[in-house]
Amino acid sequence: MKIVSAEFLKSAARPDQFPRDGRPEVAFVGRSNVGKSSLLNTLLNRKDLAKTSATPGKTQLVNFFTVNGRCYFVDLPGYGFAKVPMPVKEAWNRLMHQYLGDREPLRLAALLLDARHKPSSQDAAMLEMLGECRVPTVLVATKTDKLSKSQAQAGIRQIRAELGLDADAVVVPFSSVTGQGRKELLDIVGEQFEQNTPAPPPQGV
Ligand code: GTP
Ligand code: MG
Repeated sequence: MKIVSAEFLKSAARPDQFPRDGRPEVAFVGRSNVGKSSLLNTLLNRKDLAKTSATPGKTQLVNFFTVNGRCYFVDLPGYGFAKVPMPVKEAWNRLMHQYLGDREPLRLAALLLDARHKPSSQDAAMLEMLGECRVPTVLVATKTDKLSKSQAQAGIRQIRAELGLDADAVVVPFSSVTGQGRKELLDIVGEQFEQNTPAPPPQGV
């Protein structure tokens, strides 16, 4: 998939604020601070389109970005940040579940995991929920620039083992610093959009 244009569309706090035009979309999910917003900026070749922060909990709403005028990339709030007050956490969780559980245009979720860390029980729960909701999912191991090549491979093996992934499950090594994995991930997104988008009606009928 080639990125021609990208712009911020809106932030949604409730499902009735999600776009309803049926354009296909890909969502980026994962723990707070794992690098979702940074990855989105890297994919879209834009420095600061999605807001990033060294402080976890930066993204609190469901943010929609229009890409190439025909699909959406969706930046979701992260889970698992201990210092957020419980009511705020619950509101985030509710919004995330409302989004993932009932979103017809959602063609693909990218579940981000830090290549340096063992996946958490919440990561495992998220993967399970994506499966239950039948959302096709690709896993992404982030921040590989902080590791040597062999360390990154070991990190990915650990992710596979801890989550009990099938041999054919794809885990894309990714870095927003070096751009590693950008093309591979964009190709996966593009394929998923094509597979599930009905062909346009024949012209002239
Ligand atoms: P929330 O919005 O809080 O859920 O976080 P997020 O998952 O969107 O993370 P964000 O992209 O804001 O990145 C969090 C921190 O990690 C920032 O300080 C980023 O600069 C840093 N970061 C993100 N991706 C990478 C990466 O690939 N390599 C390195 N070295 N740092 C990264
Ligand atoms: Mg974010």
